Amino acid sequence: MEIISGLEWRYATKKFDPKKKIPAAVLAELKKAVQLSASSYGLQPYRVLQIDDDQIRAQLLSASFEQSQVVDASHLFVFCSQKTVNSQDVAAYFDLKAHMNGLDSNIFKDAVTVVSEEVAKKSEVEMEIWTAKQTYLAVGTLLAAAGEAAVDACPMEGFEPDQYDKILGLSPKGLTANVVIALGYRAADDQTAQMRKTRKPLERLFEHY
Ligand SMILES: Cc1cc2nc3c(=O)[nH]c(=O)nc-3n(C[C@H](O)[C@H](O)[C@H](O)COP(=O)(O)O)c2cc1C
Repeated sequence: MEIISGLEWRYATKKFDPKKKIPAAVLAELKKAVQLSASSYGLQPYRVLQIDDDQIRAQLLSASFEQSQVVDASHLFVFCSQKTVNSQDVAAYFDLKAHMNGLDSNIFKDAVTVVSEEVAKKSEVEMEIWTAKQTYLAVGTLLAAAGEAAVDACPMEGFEPDQYDKILGLSPKGLTANVVIALGYRAADDQTAQMRKTRKPLERLFEHY
């Protein structure tokens, strides 16, 4: 499996080479991988912000404990989860599904009702946790895809979400920042690249019943 060599090659890059940029075609494939990520009911309750503006990146740096990846990486994605999912979101998903399959959207009427009811049962906190979980799945997909494409990445939770939300104006959009992914190419002197992978042995990770 090619994905295994990609996962072995990748590591959370601490120091990016600011001069090396991801080619547009490769970036497009990485975005496609995010798009194809699985999510509960298929709702994809998140948005990914691509931060191209250097001034915004500089502001985010101070809200990221000065982690240099935020400014040095070729590209910076901020994965943001929706704070709520409502029946319009559910209907929009099933409308799209009907459209993609050349079906009348009425066919999914009952599904819209059932899923909307299920989602509405969640408390505010449960909802935020649930949408964040979906977001992390997309993050995992991106990390695996980046490894396979020999693009370096650093997933980052080391930032102040409130500050990010403020800088990026996320609250009015009903979003909150979950994870930052810096993408690009490692600097030749990033010492972390020399470290061996540290993972629990399989027998501690898996249990047989
Ligand atoms: C959700 C998440 C948040 C992380 N946050 C940071 C971070 O803020 N800064 C950083 O340098 N590394 C961060 N890491 C990287 C981890 O420390 C790293 O993935 C872990 O030590 C395993 O090493 P490896 O990914 O290099 O194999 C994060 C990883 C994940 C999955």
